Amino acid sequence: MLKNAVSFSHDLLKQTIVPGDLVIDATVGNGNDTILLAQLTGSRGTVIGFDIQASAIEKTRQKLLLTGLGERVTLHQVGHENAESYLPKNKEIGAIIYNLGYLPGGDKSITTLKDSTIKSIVSLLPHLRIGSLLIIVIYSGHPAGTEEKDALLQFSEQLDQKEFSVLRYQFINQKNEPPFIIAIERRK
Ligand SMILES: C[S@@+](CC[C@H](N)C(=O)[O-])C[C@H]1O[C@@H](n2cnc3c(N)ncnc32)[C@H](O)[C@@H]1O
Repeated sequence: MLKNAVSFSHDLLKQTIVPGDLVIDATVGNGNDTILLAQLTGSRGTVIGFDIQASAIEKTRQKLLLTGLGERVTLHQVGHENAESYLPKNKEIGAIIYNLGYLPGGDKSITTLKDSTIKSIVSLLPHLRIGSLLIIVIYSGHPAGTEEKDALLQFSEQLDQKEFSVLRYQFINQKNEPPFIIAIERRK
């Protein structure tokens, strides 16, 4: 059975993360990805999460408290374009996930934007472990989303194939622009 983009992104995370990893949630939102990351990294792992909205950080913090996973997660109310300066020294990243667009149930005018998203990806890719994945779930059905989608496709299509394998996972016969995935594997 073919999976939707979010569910496929979770399968990819399960394949790439090993217990004890440092992993990044670049868009914390309602915390669904953060919780999965915390489960996959285990008690010795570390999740660092970023979101610009206080409501997203607070809601996710509450969820982490309820699930007992909070100790392995650090959340920052900071744009992911600044993520690099929050990384521990000398530790490779086991996986990075972006779930773009606006906060479901929140203010739809606050969205990820092409320039800061690409700046963030460029700064984090060199810290990714060889063989691991940076996964982007892209929603293009809102005004800033179309621009962001085009910019991300242009950016990822020109990545050197000797250094990165880039996958696009997308349903091509669905209406209303369903989300799709770009997954970038670091090869060397
Ligand atoms: C689609 S939601 C994320 C959903 C989330 N991954 C989940 O599992 O619930 C996108 C989030 O990106 C956040 N965002 C927007 N610009 C951002 C930026 N520059 N840095 C980090 N987060 C940002 C929004 O505030 C919003 O909460």
